[in-house]
Amino acid sequence: MNSSNFTKTIFECMRLKSLCFWPLRKSFCSEVHRTDSWPQRVFSGIQPTGAIHLGNYFGAVARWRELQDGGANTMCCIADLHSITLPQEPLQLKKNIYQMTATLLACGIDPEKTILFQQSQVPQHAELCWVLACHSTMARLAHLPQFREKSASLKEVPVGIYVYPVLQAADILLYRSTHVPVGEDQVQHLQLAQQLVKTFNNRYGPTFPSPKAIVGDHTVSRLRSLRDPQKKMSKSDADPRSRIELMDSPADIREKCKKAVTDFTSAVTFNPVSRPGVSNLITIHSLLSGLSPEDICRDSSGLDTGRYKLVVAEVIAKNIAPIREKVIHIMSKHQYLDDVLESGAEKAVRIARETWNDVKNKVGFTYLL
Ligand code: TYM
Repeated sequence: MNSSNFTKTIFECMRLKSLCFWPLRKSFCSEVHRTDSWPQRVFSGIQPTGAIHLGNYFGAVARWRELQDGGANTMCCIADLHSITLPQEPLQLKKNIYQMTATLLACGIDPEKTILFQQSQVPQHAELCWVLACHSTMARLAHLPQFREKSASLKEVPVGIYVYPVLQAADILLYRSTHVPVGEDQVQHLQLAQQLVKTFNNRYGPTFPSPKAIVGDHTVSRLRSLRDPQKKMSKSDADPRSRIELMDSPADIREKCKKAVTDFTSAVTFNPVSRPGVSNLITIHSLLSGLSPEDICRDSSGLDTGRYKLVVAEVIAKNIAPIREKVIHIMSKHQYLDDVLESGAEKAVRIARETWNDVKNKVGFTYLL
């Protein structure tokens, strides 16, 4: 498919599905400017539950940076309210919030261009969540796959896990966001947000735009676990060898790549369906190097998968080392981190207050002339 046909197809997908698919290394900043009558706003969030891994980086953070640098109106939320849906040790959570802030800055999120803030510093998230919860149904929330997955392993299911997607919708709607760049695991949450917009707007009149998910192609939007290629790479996986974190040392990376589960075929070939393990490594290699999977397979034709794992480890270590060093440097600047979060929260509150006043007026909490 030539590039102009490809772009037409993307536009068509957006029109039909309210989803925007983002192919590798293609900037969609210009597309993000195409919103109905609402001013464009790109919003996304990440939980401060541990170090960013390559899935978070390529599925989300690298896209936020690209949109920011392309001139989009971007906001990035450190979703600490979401993180306590599962137990967190308070001191560790505080440290994680700083570490996430430092990591996002090291990844190129620029607080002069993006409103970077901590969710709990803006009380309107929880307030709007309540209003939206009153417009959601239990059946709809219980149906969401992340709720079913998370609750399956728990004896007592906290209400927070259940309401979690409503809080996510509140995050997005509070800023009247039009585009939400996320990995594949968040698409159903976006569909819930779209449904809530419809319900709310039908009842109270046009209040929120319908947010569109910006999702990468299938391989990037769902990098897989190194230990079980059927699962996604995840911060919450009990086995740290399942993911490569941006703070991993070269020795950790080498060890994790060596232990990555592949299959019994020794050649290096790319087929995400029949060979998910090795294809996941090739995808990571491709994303970091800019080489296509075909080029990588051709260059690796004399290698078996065992030796190829060492090549990938080296590429990963070399590419993430500068980010790791920056994180360590920024982490030592406590005052700077506090200033970034304080100024981000101030800017976010200004927008949030306006939406919340409108919502309060519409649902009947206040009477504004
Ligand atoms: P979280 O913290 O689990 O993940 C942050 C972002 O990383 C993406 N991601 C992946 N992408 C590709 N491959 C993977 N293996 C992978 N794992 C994670 C996620 O899809 C996400 O985009 N609920 C959200 C945080 C949130 C949010 C929001 C997102 C709170 N409010 C509003 C968007 C809009 C979450 O838990 O992301």
